[in-house]
Amino acid sequence: MIKIAPSILSADFARLGEEIDSVRSADYVHFDVMDGAFVPNISIGLPVLASVRKYTDMTIDAHLMIADPRFYARLFAEAGADIVTFHVEAASDADIRAAIDDVKARGRRVGLSVKPKTSVEALFPYLPSLDLALVMTVEPGFGGQSFMPDMLPKIAALRKKALELSLPFEIEVDGGINPETARLCVEAGADVLVAGSDVFKAPDRTARIRELRGQ
Ligand code: DX5
Ligand code: ZN
Repeated sequence: MIKIAPSILSADFARLGEEIDSVRSADYVHFDVMDGAFVPNISIGLPVLASVRKYTDMTIDAHLMIADPRFYARLFAEAGADIVTFHVEAASDADIRAAIDDVKARGRRVGLSVKPKTSVEALFPYLPSLDLALVMTVEPGFGGQSFMPDMLPKIAALRKKALELSLPFEIEVDGGINPETARLCVEAGADVLVAGSDVFKAPDRTARIRELRGQ
């Protein structure tokens, strides 16, 4: 079954606990971390993650849009993220490999992401070590942007690699997901769909999550 990861970037942060409860039927809570350096926006970080960890037993899927994943990835793993994903553009090969090892050493799952302008091949050397590969279908930094259909071949290329090499990593897609773009991503080979504004603006979030799954 397709997994849905509502992004709390679109939630009302003053009522974060209730907002998380309202998407309980989903699979992951997507937790967007922005540092004002890697992306032109600042969101939430370690203290909020620690509070959310205490509040919910849902799988927390942290997406680090930050400039120094080598330093911070392990801290997010320690603060209770179940999946820690960072960007291939943000670090050197040696630092990416070290950050992957740091997350795994703490018993957490690890993901690596590409921005729209980065070729998906940039992920290929790391695929055997990954639990998740994240394709951005908007420029990271803000919710509520339009889906970029030119990114669909990246999803297909990852699916092909996973099959060729029999690798178990999940393919996650983030940005501009609604029931229509969700279908395109699933057809291309996606396993996990991140949806922020589409879920949090829906009058019935449980029904919307079901719809995004294609059910
Ligand atoms: C964008 C974030 C996304 C964002 C998606 O930089 O990584 O997770 O919340 O928002 P929507 O679903 O509204 O495009
Ligand atoms: Zn995200």
